Amino acid sequence: MSKIIVVIGAQWGDEGKGKIVDLLAEHFDIVARYQGGHNAGHSVQVGDKSFVLHLLPSGIVHKGKTCVLGNGMVIDPKAFFEEADRLMTQGIEVSPERVKISSRAHLILPYHRALDHTSEERLGNEKVGTTLRGIGPAYEDKAGRRGIRTADALVPEVLRSRIERNLEDANRIIMAYGGEKLDANEIFDETSRLAERLGAFISDTTHFLNVAASDGRSILLEGAQATLLDVDHGTYPFVTSSSTVAGGAIVGSGLAPNRLTGVLGIVRTYTTRVGEGPFPTEMVEDEAEMGQLIRERGREYGASTGRPRRCGWFDAFATRYAAEINGFTSVALTKLDVLDALEEIKVCVGYKLDGRTCESLPAVSQDLRRIEPVYAILPGWQSSTVGMTEMDSLPSEARAYVDFLSEKIGVEIGLVSTGPERSQTIVVKDSAVGGWLND
Ligand code: GDP
Ligand code: IMO
Ligand code: MG
Repeated sequence: MSKIIVVIGAQWGDEGKGKIVDLLAEHFDIVARYQGGHNAGHSVQVGDKSFVLHLLPSGIVHKGKTCVLGNGMVIDPKAFFEEADRLMTQGIEVSPERVKISSRAHLILPYHRALDHTSEERLGNEKVGTTLRGIGPAYEDKAGRRGIRTADALVPEVLRSRIERNLEDANRIIMAYGGEKLDANEIFDETSRLAERLGAFISDTTHFLNVAASDGRSILLEGAQATLLDVDHGTYPFVTSSSTVAGGAIVGSGLAPNRLTGVLGIVRTYTTRVGEGPFPTEMVEDEAEMGQLIRERGREYGASTGRPRRCGWFDAFATRYAAEINGFTSVALTKLDVLDALEEIKVCVGYKLDGRTCESLPAVSQDLRRIEPVYAILPGWQSSTVGMTEMDSLPSEARAYVDFLSEKIGVEIGLVSTGPERSQTIVVKDSAVGGWLND
């Protein structure tokens, strides 16, 4: 059976998916994204070179790997070429031979960006804190059955009539909120120019992936955002607008569920969140200084927007929930080294609401804001683990911390990351990661 795995963030994003996908990509033929758009920011460091991927799968950094942008994605053609051109100047080949964009993926156009702004303004204090990239409005059009797919953009009459029709409604909202009216001709001209260039990249990627799978080629499905930002299972309404979870990988790639051979959860040793929304273990008030320490040590600033990430303790309760929804067969635990300086480390092992123990994650965001986390306190190790490659070299407290997290989330840990570079990784147990590194 061909090896098909999905890599998914277990928290609110930025767990280090880019690093782990880059590490695994060497052992796969194809790397595919299945949801989201350029709201993602995946950083990959190779020696002294660093790459930030937004739309393209992190596999692009590996020469010769085929990359797919699946049907579940929303693609801003302008952002695609900006990223492609930037990568080309860094010596990465971005050509139609190795990059395939689904004919069924939806386009993000300028009015989606404008609508993202008005939507956030309308929400005021309740705003989501989106990346303002037009992601939500593009998915709204998709679900509203008026979206424009990449294949539609290749037929000028279809593109023109859809832009005209959609813009009429979009302009009404944009102008009602004091925004500037957008011009259909301008959007059509710009989009058709970009579509012409995009044409060579567009194909039926569902068919491509299924044929590849039947031929025994291995596929790595790269999740963006993360479980707690999933539109169904996340901390709604403070979520992104796509299905980020393992189920979404099936819908967003067109591969059948029984083809999946593994689900790798990317779990960071602490938690961050960008944008608004409840965050039970956030380091605030008397822990604000600790939050700042983690932010600086972990360089926790958004790869897409540069916003400082909110930092918090590890939330084993929420991560166990992520493990359940995604069916993690293994976990890659990232950023162990960031905790090197700490004397004591808190881990949230349960939630209480109004004094009662929660059985599962509350559905209502107002309740999530009132959660009292139940903490376990573990000793820190206060020595450097940077770049370590063996479990045995870790201080005993660090090993105990890793074991404790594994036990609390109920999944074996296959990889531990001790720095941003490929080599700064402990392969705890290759069989635990499906033997993916060993072929
Ligand atoms: P993603 O969105 O999940 O791909 O994560 P990001 O790339 O947005 O953020 C993770 C950041 O942490 C990146 O700058 C990585 O280079 C870095 N990183 C990944 N793993 C480690 C690690 O184990 N230790 C340290 N110190 N940094 C890491
Ligand atoms: P990666 O793939 C962290 C957050 C935004 C906002 C919410 C909705 O790098 O982990 P959107 O623009 O998607 O409508 O914003 O989701 N968000 C992310 N947070 N990492 C990301 O991607 C994110 N992509 C979106 O900050 O709160
Ligand atoms: Mg990121």
